[in-house]
Amino acid sequence: MTAIPPDFDARFFRSALGRFATGVTIVTTEAAPGQPLGLTISSFNSVSLDPPLVLWTLSKKASSLPYFQKAERYVVHVLAATQLHLAKRFAQGAQATRFAGLALGRAPGGTLMLDDPDCAAWFECFNVTQHEAGDHLIFIGQVERCHRSFHQPLVYHAGDFDLTPSTEPLSSN
Ligand SMILES: Cc1cc2nc3c(=O)[nH]c(=O)nc-3n(C[C@H](O)[C@H](O)[C@H](O)COP(=O)(O)O)c2cc1C
Repeated sequence: MTAIPPDFDARFFRSALGRFATGVTIVTTEAAPGQPLGLTISSFNSVSLDPPLVLWTLSKKASSLPYFQKAERYVVHVLAATQLHLAKRFAQGAQATRFAGLALGRAPGGTLMLDDPDCAAWFECFNVTQHEAGDHLIFIGQVERCHRSFHQPLVYHAGDFDLTPSTEPLSSN
């Protein structure tokens, strides 16, 4: 059995997927000792409670891909609504610019992370496995340590950082 080919284009598919509201995270590790690496990720999700597993997907085009492939651990920071500026900053530009002026710390297992008490939660993950899936890689992480606060989360929906766009945007098909 083979899958039926899509009757929609990539733009429409993206628009339909955008109706699924998500949180927003920043995933950090080190490219080399003392060289922070991080990017904005909304594909984060829970997988298993026992053992504690999470997933996120990374584009094969991401320049950080080879570093995350070989990283032993990474930290997933769940952003609060007050951290919108970080979500935007970590989605573009050079790595050094993304981290400029930010306080950094270490999770209990030694993984580089943002030292920001505003995060809604963070998860220090062992980089268990990666699966190829189309133009992305699925990363499965085993959570070794985690923390949460009760700050209002940052929400991503229909290509924007809030839940307000409920009508069809003019640009979508
Ligand atoms: C809200 C938001 C969510 C994103 N989610 C993902 C994601 O789940 N996977 C991904 O590969 N890129 C995602 N991106 C895009 C990356 O953050 C962006 O391409 C980044 O510049 C890649 O960095 P790199 O090329 O240095 O690795 C997202 C961007 C934004 C603004």
